[in-house]
Amino acid sequence: MDALFVVFALTVALVPCSVFASDPSSLQDFCVAIDDPRFAVFVNGKFCKDPELATANDFFLAGLQIPGKTANKVGSNVTQANVAQIPGLNTLGISFARIDYAPYGLNPPHTHPRASEILTVLEGSLYVGFVTSNPVNRLISKILNQGDVFIFPVGLIHFQFNVGHTNAVALAGLSSQNPGTITIANAVFGSKPPISDDVLMKAFQVDKSVIDKLQAQFWMNNK
Ligand SMILES: *[C@@H]1O[C@H](CO)[C@@H](O)[C@H](O)[C@H]1NC(C)=O
Repeated sequence: MDALFVVFALTVALVPCSVFASDPSSLQDFCVAIDDPRFAVFVNGKFCKDPELATANDFFLAGLQIPGKTANKVGSNVTQANVAQIPGLNTLGISFARIDYAPYGLNPPHTHPRASEILTVLEGSLYVGFVTSNPVNRLISKILNQGDVFIFPVGLIHFQFNVGHTNAVALAGLSSQNPGTITIANAVFGSKPPISDDVLMKAFQVDKSVIDKLQAQFWMNNK
C-alpha cells in the first residue's frame, strides 16, 4: 500500500467518528459521577416535569422592564432570565439578560463558560470588547449606540462600559440555559478560600502588598 492510500483509508475510517461521536454539552460547571443513584442530586441540567403538568407560567417571566439597581461599586446590574428563573428553558440551550448601567458604569471583564452572547443596546452608549485567546490576546472592541448589536463568542473575556453621562440599558441573548459567569477579578482575587499569594505574585509579577490589597477588596457579585 502506498502512503497516500493509507492516509485516504484512515481519513475515511475516522470520518464517522468525527460526525457521530460526541458527549453532550455541559449544562453546569461539573457533574461528578457517582455509583449509587440514591445520592444523586443533579443530572446534567434539571429534572423534567411531566409535560402533561406543564403550564404557561413554566415558560414565563415578568419584570424585565424594571431596571436593576446600579448603586454599587461597578455601577451596573445584570437581571437574569435563565433556567433558574424560567424552568421551561431546561434543555433548550438559550437564555436572556437585561443589563443596566449607571453613567460610567461597568459590567466588568468576565466570561460565560457555556455560552456565546448577542447583545443589543436599548438606551445609551457602551464601549464593549472581548479578547481573543492565547497567544494573540487581541482586543476586539467598539462603541455601541442605541440599536447596535454585538457578539461575544463563547468563553472569551468581555466587558461593557457606559461611556455616556446617562443611564444605559442592554438586552442579551445567550446560547445556554445556564451560561455561567466568571468575573475575572472576583474569581482570581476574591475566591474562597483565597488563592495563595505566591501564586498570584508570580502570575501578576507584583509584590505581596499589591496582591493583599486586591484580595482585601469587596468583590461584588454582579452575576
Ligand atoms: C441589582 O438589582 C436588584 C433589583 O433592584 C437588587 O435587588 C440587587 O441588589 C442589585 N444587585 C447589585 C449587585 O447591585
